[in-house]
Amino acid sequence: MSLPVLPLPDEASCPFGPHPEIDALREHRPLTRVRCPAAGIEAWLVTDYADVREVLGDSRRFSSSGGATGHLLASTPPDSPVEEGDFARMDGADHVRFRHLFAPAVGTAKRMAEIRPMVQRIVDEAIDELAGQAHPIDLHEQFAKPVTTAVIGELLGVPAGDRKIFHRTAEAQFDNETTIDEFSAAKQPLFEYVQDLITQRRAEPADDAISIMIERGADFSDLELVKMASGLLVGGYDATAALIAHGVLALLEEPAQLALLRENPDVVPGAVEEVVRLLGATTGMLRIAVTDTEIAGTPIAAGDYLVAMLQAANHDPAQFPDPGRLDLRRDNRRQLGFGFGAHLCVGRQLARLELAVVLGTLFRRISGLRLAVPIDRIPFKRNSPITGPDRLLVTWDEIRPA
Ligand code: HEM
Repeated sequence: MSLPVLPLPDEASCPFGPHPEIDALREHRPLTRVRCPAAGIEAWLVTDYADVREVLGDSRRFSSSGGATGHLLASTPPDSPVEEGDFARMDGADHVRFRHLFAPAVGTAKRMAEIRPMVQRIVDEAIDELAGQAHPIDLHEQFAKPVTTAVIGELLGVPAGDRKIFHRTAEAQFDNETTIDEFSAAKQPLFEYVQDLITQRRAEPADDAISIMIERGADFSDLELVKMASGLLVGGYDATAALIAHGVLALLEEPAQLALLRENPDVVPGAVEEVVRLLGATTGMLRIAVTDTEIAGTPIAAGDYLVAMLQAANHDPAQFPDPGRLDLRRDNRRQLGFGFGAHLCVGRQLARLELAVVLGTLFRRISGLRLAVPIDRIPFKRNSPITGPDRLLVTWDEIRPA
């Protein structure tokens, strides 16, 4: 029998949940072999909630050295050497050193409270901008991407006119077919640009995340800081924009839940968590077994690849009853959409803040917001570890002032 292939060919046909094939696997064969042609590897696919947590929660048995999405990308072979500053592919103490430096720059509640007014201003300005435009508009391209670009740009002190530079790198990085050489060429301009920013901030510190990392990271090389700041810029804008567009689509398809959100601002944090559970991290995280071991009774050999399917875990009915239903009041404390264990998303508090401000503002200020085309005519991203609607055409009745 031929092995299932990742990504599954028609994932776009299931806009809000894992492919039915994944659901069936979780039920009958929690571990199964899959082929990942872009990376040229085979892997164990892990779909059950407890098994996914076991793999991601034990970095002594399961290494991140292949890169979280190395199974999907031609540009970063999972067996390539881990180089200086490649924090997302490190384990143990080497990795913890980076996490300690990320935390004060983008991870604390205090920092999020400080930047909340900035995020609200950016969202309000983006909605004001829409008010002057003919509609339908593409909410992904004309709202979600500008918002997340501006937030991460301001947080790291990248001036508005220079932000295209990290878009270009993200486009190359999140395209499964980008070659190794193309990716090297695409990240070089960003690395050079960020190196210049670091040199400037060393001479003249400001209050942005780069200055914080320089101040606290005296033992970090410039290359390490360049890779950290570039990781935040690239990782920070695209995944969040995709989830904003995807979450808005899910809410527009569930009028009763949307009404609940509109009428009860206290539901916003629950709505954020539910959108992340339902739609977050659809493509799975790659790990490499460090030692001979087993998961769910299946022997795993040292060197085997495993793909932990976060979205499959988040749709495990044993954990989340009726998992395909958008339920803003659901208990989501155990959802895994931002990952689990040592590599849990460093930007999760920022992503939560952005989603909260967007969901709390968009439907309040834009009355009658609705799809401009039937859902089956919405194109979904393909060939990318980042999923969601590629274009989200919407229209409305009226935009109210902030
Ligand atoms: C809703 C949007 C987002 C989702 C669904 C998401 C999801 C994830 C997931 C699942 C991981 C775990 C990777 C692994 O297990 O190997 C991760 C890691 C990471 N995320 Fe996010 N993320 C989002 C937004 C952001 C933002 C806004 C930033 C930056 C400010 C960011 C920066 C990172 C970084 C740097 C890592 C690597 C952490 C490490 O390897 O230690 N993410 N993200």
